[in-house]
Amino acid sequence: MSGERVKMGIAGLDDMLGGGLIPGSICGIIGTYGTGKTTFSIEFVWEGLKKGENIIYISLEEREERIIGYMEQKGWDVVPYLNKSLFVIKLDPTDFNLANNRIKNELPKLIDEVKASRVVIDPISLFEDLFTLDSERRQEMFRFVEGLRDKNCTIVLTSETDKSNVFSSRHALIEFLVDTVILLRYVRASDLTDVHLALEVVKMRMSAHSREIKPYELMQDQVLVYSEANVF
Ligand SMILES: Nc1ncnc2c1ncn2[C@@H]1O[C@H](COP(=O)(O)OP(=O)(O)O)[C@@H](O)[C@H]1O
Ligand SMILES: [Mg+2]
Repeated sequence: MSGERVKMGIAGLDDMLGGGLIPGSICGIIGTYGTGKTTFSIEFVWEGLKKGENIIYISLEEREERIIGYMEQKGWDVVPYLNKSLFVIKLDPTDFNLANNRIKNELPKLIDEVKASRVVIDPISLFEDLFTLDSERRQEMFRFVEGLRDKNCTIVLTSETDKSNVFSSRHALIEFLVDTVILLRYVRASDLTDVHLALEVVKMRMSAHSREIKPYELMQDQVLVYSEANVF
């Protein structure tokens, strides 16, 4: 697909994606705790803010202040953007009706109202957890994601991995619904002395992409993907 790509703001990863995400597409970032899902998603936010875009960040885990504080720690002056072009919203992941209403009904309206071109939900897995029936979860998530496709914005949904399978999202659903899947995980050396982080682009609809597994590091001021290095 031609046209300008939407950069995630992580150099080596954008290269692996063929320049970035496809405009209007939906990306899932899947990884267990501490692999950098929140970090990747705020890099995506900052990249958009620098370009003058409007952004909605829905957090189901960390409070607004923590997300904003984390950005400031990175040396980004985000305060002037708050509630002008950056909207950070914390949702309570224990109240099904409230979270469900805000995500399904209010978010699509808010996207139109603020003309958001980037949206993050971090992590979507806490929202998925709220459904008691698998069949209901599947149906509702499918509808929700399809609804987001009509919006003119590029979306990042993060998900915890399944307890027993670090290659799969918590409910093994998101990877089928989204266009692009980025998998983050720990890689342990065989002697168990060292743990490294590695990422791969598992799928990307309508585009060529790298299938290599690349090491990365979460640095104080940036995410470094060692695109020249190999994990194995
Ligand atoms: N507020 C923060 N300040 C400094 N470092 C942080 C902060 N949040 C996360 N990190 C670093 O980034 C790593 C990944 O965290 P995070 O992006 O929150 O992962 P995830 O969202 O996948 O659980 C942490 O283990 C830590 O090293
Ligand atoms: Mg997180």
